[in-house]
Amino acid sequence: MRAAEAINIEDLRTLARRRLPRMVFDYIDGGAEDEQTLRRSVDRFCDYEWVWNSLVDVSAIRTQTQVFGQPSAQPFFVSPTAASRLFHPMQGELATARAAQAACVPYSVSTLASHTIEDIAKAAPTIPKIIQVYVWKDRGLVRDFLARAKAAGYTGCVLTVDATVAGHRERDPRNGFSIPPSVNFKTATQVLARPGYLFDLARSSKIGPANFQGVDTGGRDVMGVINELFDRTMTWKDAEWMAQEWGGPFAVKGISTAEDARKAVDSGASVVWLSNHGGRQIDTSVPVVDLVPEVRAAVTDRIEVIADGGVRRGSHVLKLIAQGATSVALGRACLFGLAAGGESGVTRALEILAADVARLLALLGVPDVKDLDGRLLRLRL
Ligand code: LAC
Repeated sequence: MRAAEAINIEDLRTLARRRLPRMVFDYIDGGAEDEQTLRRSVDRFCDYEWVWNSLVDVSAIRTQTQVFGQPSAQPFFVSPTAASRLFHPMQGELATARAAQAACVPYSVSTLASHTIEDIAKAAPTIPKIIQVYVWKDRGLVRDFLARAKAAGYTGCVLTVDATVAGHRERDPRNGFSIPPSVNFKTATQVLARPGYLFDLARSSKIGPANFQGVDTGGRDVMGVINELFDRTMTWKDAEWMAQEWGGPFAVKGISTAEDARKAVDSGASVVWLSNHGGRQIDTSVPVVDLVPEVRAAVTDRIEVIADGGVRRGSHVLKLIAQGATSVALGRACLFGLAAGGESGVTRALEILAADVARLLALLGVPDVKDLDGRLLRLRL
């Protein structure tokens, strides 16, 4: 099977598993500790069941939503994820950016991207682009990064607040995984089992935080950078500082309570982003689909609510929207596509979800996604 023939996101995951050395696949696929949140974030969607409107004209389906005040052709867009060249050593974020551009959905780019934010912006010239920020202890680095992002045409900024330290993802040390990957006695057989990947890795430049090449990271890998060079003293005051420094649409990502949503808005955020970081941080944290209504109710209509976590189908996207999200962010779905087939794999992931969304809106008798709300969902007892 080629990526273009994938029928669903699980097919892309299967292809990704075939293409990637185990340690790299497990880095995308895995979560923290017992991986309860990782699994439940997907499974919990099934506990929400649909009722539908009958005999509604669904000859024209509208899926457009708003992300950081900009249009998205779909009720979803691409979430920031670190070091995409791990999953496709030659193309990385450029492939994802091109696929997002073709699908007319916004792309949010990680601080830990493995291409420069300028090159990524050139690959996606007209879609809305959002820059994700982790805060270095050295605030000068953050200021410069934000200024570069503005100059390169990024219009939204998102501060991630749920990774003060990296979660305990047990697959990674077991596999001997690091970013960049190193070939040693633990990893050699995994890498040799995937010669195509090894070939691409060998003929591409070293994978790491491409936007901070001049920064002395003391030989730390990316998780070491998160744990030791990012600022753990951060509080809401710093979020306020950053919102002001950015001066445009701004989100706080990785909150889980209504109280924090209000604090984010008070700090200057126009977007609140509910996430448990793909089940990679606090295990047994609550699936996001359960949290959306209380957060939606805590902020005014002018505030966007973005949600992510566990989305493998268009029905998952629409359940988050029905619960009150303005838009839904995609992490693994796109990364599985990227690993499965580069740009065409990400394109396939976005196509699958777009087709799911259009089909389900028709079946639900809701021709415009803006009219979808909790009245069509029941929580199974
Ligand atoms: C992760 C961090 C880098 O989840 O965002 O791997």
